[in-house]
Amino acid sequence: MATLSAAPVKVAPKAQVRVSRGEALHLTLLSLAACAALGLLLYLALHGYSYYSLGREDRPLSPLHAQLRSSGVVGLRLGFLSVGLFGLLFLYPLRKRWKWLSRIGSTRRWLNFHVLLGITTPLVVTFHTSFRMHGLAGLAYWTMVAVALSGFVGRYVYAKIPRTRGAAELSMQELQEEAETLTAKLREQPFFREEDLAPLLCVPSAHQIRRMSPLAGLWLMLRLDLARPLLVSRLRRRALGGTQRIATLGGLLASHDSGLESVVSTLRRQSRLRLSIAFLERTERLFHLWHVIHRPFSISFVFLIAVHIAVAMSMGVWSWRIH
Ligand code: HEM
Repeated sequence: MATLSAAPVKVAPKAQVRVSRGEALHLTLLSLAACAALGLLLYLALHGYSYYSLGREDRPLSPLHAQLRSSGVVGLRLGFLSVGLFGLLFLYPLRKRWKWLSRIGSTRRWLNFHVLLGITTPLVVTFHTSFRMHGLAGLAYWTMVAVALSGFVGRYVYAKIPRTRGAAELSMQELQEEAETLTAKLREQPFFREEDLAPLLCVPSAHQIRRMSPLAGLWLMLRLDLARPLLVSRLRRRALGGTQRIATLGGLLASHDSGLESVVSTLRRQSRLRLSIAFLERTERLFHLWHVIHRPFSISFVFLIAVHIAVAMSMGVWSWRIH
């Protein structure tokens, strides 16, 4: 099954500068957000460890109880913060429906923030629950955890569908063309024989893939992806001398030989590309299936959160806590 996209666009030098500046800004903002998230989570873990590690009966005796319990001064604010973060997290799917929002930034960059928020928010929520998950709130919590964990599967499968930098899917023809260019490049390299490269470039046939269940296919892709760094390190070891082998930790790290590293990077690209091409039909179907499961879970999670907040409001939890 091939997907369509516009032909690759040649970028003028000036535009290239703008693109890389935009990318630099994106990476800076993403890193700042990741550092802020890590700082907050580390602070909560260190500050609250003595409280969170107490048993249920002992907690009210702790001086931190008034702060860190779910309805406490800090606990409640973490709940509010989580709602705010979820609001930002859901902008990613909403962006597909709201035209004005889809004009801001690229899908790839939005997805990067979605993933960061998708990892951070459940952890903030965990501190908000003060590690006590039961009742309706517990159900909402575990639904959220299931959605976040399934996000990792979705992200993995998403990355298997080759895209342009703007996140538009590449057509099969474009992929084949790139694979041919890489094959030609690799034929000219002086470091490895063709048979040395075979373990890295060998992929199952279309017939074999068609006979696999979706889960078996996913598992095989994962195994091949995990094996790649080891196969690359074996090739590096072959090409490098004794001291260089040690300096690169047995070929796991990049060497100082720029020619070799350029070939290794072409090889890696070709290996990933061949795997993506072989499994493309399967991954596209899997990703569609993932959406079908992920969406109702996300919606039921929002519903449960709304009920949880309504119950907390009806009990007047924060009218007297937040000053
Ligand atoms: C509690 C946390 C999370 C919630 C509530 C959430 C929610 C959502 C929703 C509602 C969608 C749109 C689904 C659709 O349009 O059918 C989505 C898409 C997606 N999410 Fe999450 N997500 C969470 C965490 C994560 C995490 C941790 C990751 C990755 C590690 C992730 C990766 C993705 C990916 C790859 C997509 C699909 C992108 C696309 O098709 O354009 N999500 N998520």
